Amino acid sequence: MNHVFYKGEDSSRPTLLLLHGTGGNEHDLVGLGKEIDISANILSVRGNVLENGMPRFFKRLAEGVFDLEDLQVRTVELKSFIDEAAENYEFDRDNVVAIGYSNGANIAANLLFEYKNVLNGAILHHPMVPRRGVELPRMSKTPVFIGAGKNDHMCPATESEELQNLLQEAGAMVELYWHAYGHQLTQDEVQAAKQWYQLKF
Ligand code: MLT
Repeated sequence: MNHVFYKGEDSSRPTLLLLHGTGGNEHDLVGLGKEIDISANILSVRGNVLENGMPRFFKRLAEGVFDLEDLQVRTVELKSFIDEAAENYEFDRDNVVAIGYSNGANIAANLLFEYKNVLNGAILHHPMVPRRGVELPRMSKTPVFIGAGKNDHMCPATESEELQNLLQEAGAMVELYWHAYGHQLTQDEVQAAKQWYQLKF
């Protein structure tokens, strides 16, 4: 997968896996990653799917309607990519924290839905419930931050709460942060995520 890797100064810090929103690329969230943890490794990836020229992490049938078969295939692909990157760049595979926005948050959530111990934590900015009616692997207190908007047309408040509940029932420790706006990522939300991250990692 197209990506950039920046080695952090402190190898005891997590590796931040950055996953952009629709139409983004591997460079978009690097500044955000450095804002969250200046000393961490950064592994920022570009989604392999193109929708009218816009990179995404998996196909969709319509806005907010996922192609579940493709989501499955792409989730396997991303998991293998992380495993290989950990060997190539020699970072601790057990200490990867995902930071995703929108489509990137959705595939990060699906990694958690699919695989036990795939991430040591996740910051999900404006995620949706990736799949329903599936059994989640047990998560041993995996810390998860969800940033949501009270007026997010893409993701109603009930959906953010549903995702929080599903992850919590599987054993994750979820913090749900609300802002009063829509699908956008605000500075206040980033600062809330940073404070949360500093307490957990
Ligand atoms: C998705 O397809 O992942 C969601 O609709 C969010 C987005 O627009 O990327």
